Parts: sequence; structure tokens; C-alpha cells
Amino acid sequence: MPAGIAEITEPTTAELAAGCDRGRGGSSRDGILDAIGVLSGRNRIAADFYDGPGWIRFRKWERLFLAFQGGARRSRMQILRHLVESLQDAPARVLEVGIGDGENLRFLPESWTIHGVDIARTQLVACRGRYPRMDGRLAWAEAEHLPYPDGSFDACYSVGGFNYYGNHAASIREMRRVTREGGPVVVADEVPGLQRAGIGHLIGRPSIDKAWLRALGLDAAFVDMVVDLGLDPPALAAAELPGLVRVPIWNRLGYCLIHPAPGRPAGASR
Ligand SMILES: C[S@@+](CC[C@H](N)C(=O)[O-])C[C@H]1O[C@@H](n2cnc3c(N)ncnc32)[C@H](O)[C@@H]1O
Repeated sequence: MPAGIAEITEPTTAELAAGCDRGRGGSSRDGILDAIGVLSGRNRIAADFYDGPGWIRFRKWERLFLAFQGGARRSRMQILRHLVESLQDAPARVLEVGIGDGENLRFLPESWTIHGVDIARTQLVACRGRYPRMDGRLAWAEAEHLPYPDGSFDACYSVGGFNYYGNHAASIREMRRVTREGGPVVVADEVPGLQRAGIGHLIGRPSIDKAWLRALGLDAAFVDMVVDLGLDPPALAAAELPGLVRVPIWNRLGYCLIHPAPGRPAGASR
């Protein structure tokens, strides 16, 4: 490197969080920042499920679903393309909320520096094990309380999990807050209430649908949460973030929320 030119290094999650005045940034362990609060409601149920054996049992069904949607790359790129079209492959700092074990990372440009947040610590440990470059780029935190200063990222996205986030308005507000002005915020999940197309609901016996969902491997508490969810998360997100557009994905079995609307220039990255 020529004399006088300093190497620009990307800040770690802990360094970014040090500039956040929201008070939840703690110490780091295993390369993961501890910024988790006391969990309750849906977030408690989701953390128990994704930290435990239920998600390991259920995952094959998620993979099968995506295989029917054209395979992992095609089904995930229906969502991730909105980030790639906006940022191209120029260097960018991007946040995945609900990153799990990092399944989306292999489909995104290597020039991007990706950070991740999850409510389930087991998932973050698995992500770091799978992708050593994620060391120092992960935070154990809720979507509703992201431990970063305003405008820390060029883009922010969430794939799966959003329907059951404890507070949809707060999480979409946080994703918008930590993204720089004009940067894309992209959120996707399956259409809420899909299970109401199950035979049990059709014949007025929702307990039948709960039984087969448990047979697929889901925890009882998670099943109750899924079947009893009386909310419309994409509508709640749209009410919080005017200008958010919703497009169908996965043959209309899923939705993708995009802000700002595609086609509007989001500007260059750093
Ligand atoms: C279906 S998995 C998706 C994982 C990954 N994004 C993918 O596409 O494979 C949902 C993830 O969201 C996380 N999650 C659920 N609720 C959350 C919340 N309120 N805040 C942060 N993460 C959450 C779960 O722990 C889980 O890892």
C-alpha cells in the first residue's frame, strides 16, 4: 500500500454498537455481541423454537417448500434481487435481521460486508461456524431493538420469521432507522394465515391443523402462535412505513415488502 494511504477497515458489530445510545450493547462472546433484552410473548416462543430441536426437525419441510418454488437460489433471489438491483456489487454494508445460520449469504455479492442479528443464539453460533468471516459481525438481539446507530447500513433485509416478530411496527421502524436514507429495506415471509387453508379449518376443527403442524416437528407453543395469529403483519408494516410496496413471491404463497419502491434510485453506497 502506498505510504500515506491508510487501510480502511470495516467496523465490527461491537464497534458499530458502541456508537448507539440505545443502551443494549453488552459484551461479546464467541464473536457475537450480546445485546439481547428480557424476551416475552412471541419473541420468547420464537427464540425457544429456533434455539431448540424443533427448528432442526422442521427445517426439511422449509427446504422442500423452497424446492417446489424452484430451489434455494431461485426462491431466495425473488427477494434478494431487490437488494442486488439497488446496490449492485459495489462495496456495501448490509444487515440481515433474523439471519439464522446464514443461508442467504452465499447468494449475495462477496464485495458486501454483511452483518447479522438474531434472537436465537444457537443460530448465530451456527452462522459463525458456517461462515468464519461473520466473526465480529453478529449480534444477539431482537429486531425491535437493533443495537446500531441510525443509518449504519446501506441496506437491511429479513427473510422468514417476520410474521411472528413480537412487534411488527417497531421492527420495521428499526430496520428503516439503521438503514441510510434511500437505502433498501426488504422483508419477506410466507402469506400469514396459510394454515387456515388446512382441512381442519375448512371443516371447523382447527385442532386438526394444530395436530398435523406438530407432527411436522413444530413445538406446541410455536404451533399455537402460528395458528392463532390474528394479525396481518405486512399490513402493519405498510402502515408504519408509507411508500412500502408489497409484491407476491413463491407463487403467491409468500410476500415481499420493499422500501423505497423498486425503480426509485436508492443512491450509491459508500
Ligand atoms: C425462518 S428463520 C430464517 C433464517 C434466515 N433468514 C433464512 O432465510 O434462512 C427465522 C429467523 O428469525 C429469527 N427471529 C425470529 N423472531 C425474531 C426477532 N423478533 N428478532 C430477531 N430475530 C428473530 C429466528 O430466530 C430465526 O433464526
